[in-house]
Amino acid sequence: MKQKKVHIMTFGCQMNVSDSEKILLMLHTVGYESVSTVADADMVIVNTCSVRAKAEDRVYGILLTMKGELKKNPDLLIGVGGCVAQQEGEKLLKKIPHLSFVFGTHNLHLLPQIVTQAESGKRLSETAFIDDSSRFDLFPDHGGISGITRTVTIMQGCDNYCSYCIVPYVRGREVSRKRSDILNEVAKAADAGVREVTLLGQNVNSYGRKGGYGTDFSRLIRDVAKVSGIKRIRFMTSHPKDMSDPLLDCFADVEKLCSHIHLPVQSGSDRILALMNRGYTRSEYMNRIERLKLIRPDILVTSDIIVGFPGETEDDFSQSLSLMKEVGYSDTYSFVYSPRPETKAASLPDETSKSEKSERLKRLMALQSSLTKGVQSRFVGSGVEVLVEGISKKEGQVFGRSSGNRTVNFAGSIDMIGSMQLPEIIKNLQNSLLGELKVK
Ligand code: 5AD
Ligand code: SF4
Repeated sequence: MKQKKVHIMTFGCQMNVSDSEKILLMLHTVGYESVSTVADADMVIVNTCSVRAKAEDRVYGILLTMKGELKKNPDLLIGVGGCVAQQEGEKLLKKIPHLSFVFGTHNLHLLPQIVTQAESGKRLSETAFIDDSSRFDLFPDHGGISGITRTVTIMQGCDNYCSYCIVPYVRGREVSRKRSDILNEVAKAADAGVREVTLLGQNVNSYGRKGGYGTDFSRLIRDVAKVSGIKRIRFMTSHPKDMSDPLLDCFADVEKLCSHIHLPVQSGSDRILALMNRGYTRSEYMNRIERLKLIRPDILVTSDIIVGFPGETEDDFSQSLSLMKEVGYSDTYSFVYSPRPETKAASLPDETSKSEKSERLKRLMALQSSLTKGVQSRFVGSGVEVLVEGISKKEGQVFGRSSGNRTVNFAGSIDMIGSMQLPEIIKNLQNSLLGELKVK
């Protein structure tokens, strides 16, 4: 088979990054290998995100620039996948005449057929939902992909319908993957040299709730911890309302479970949390955080926060700021609210001006920056265990992450990759830590 070349562009979340890997595996079966520039490619795949309008607009911008690429290479195939593809489907083909094909979030396994047809000149769109776990089995396994860290999809979709969120509409209903398939993938990854797995899903704490696998997320973590070769386990994303006691217990007695949790709060105001349909109050959220800190005093917590949700007053916003301080987040990913099609919040009255919202975002980011600084400075002068993931950009250094998910760079060599090292932290850099290995 002639080697053909594909350039995959990925936007959005970790789920899309993971899907892009699956897309590449599917394309290998029809003779494509990955290249890093459009100029070298026979085909471009744009894996899109529609969680906020800005991300969606960017996709249209990228697709416009493809017109220029087509002038240079008139045979270039252009495919769009991901959440915008799911949302727009057929309409995208009509809007963008130079587009070759569109595939939705549940149709990755159809790519070999779609691409084969596109190669013979057919324009097509496949966006049907498959709302059961069978589609997980259609993916080629990841045994061949190595690396030190990997994400392993354990569930997809979301049934929570937070009032601002488009995800349930573009990723479909919550489906958990079979426990045995997950454990097989983790074992294969460990054999290929992977040392850290991140169990991935839109809402991992409700793993197994649907599907009748007779297991739940806490038991899955305990099973994954038994896989030899795996040194660390992480997971994302968790929903605070499903943060069960058995899951908290895992932090007490599963040593491989890292001391970090991404637990998006979205707002510190009960009134806004109710309008968001989040299913918990501020004090319920804080109760989970306090329990976590008791069990794992060194745990670092990160969050997502939305600023300027419809009706958010200055007082509501100040409650988000006070909650950030109370938790002492090591990082927050903050966003100005963006109305999304089909969602409930899109029809709520929203009187706060754009400039007021961006002002709030700036204040939130400034606060986070000082919180991050404080969290990071705690490590200076002490030894931090790091799983070495690769060679740093700076010559002579390697990088990895601490259990709490802080990036650490230190002088080291290629043979350290995959090992645990214990550098002493000598400097708190803005977004990372600088360490030094002490000679024994
Ligand atoms: N506007 C702004 N931010 C949003 N998010 C989800 N939907 C929206 C929206 N409509 C944010 C949430 C979520 C993260 C992935 O994106 O904070 O946790
Ligand atoms: Fe969206 Fe809420 Fe589901 Fe997260 S839990 S994907 S924010 S609907």
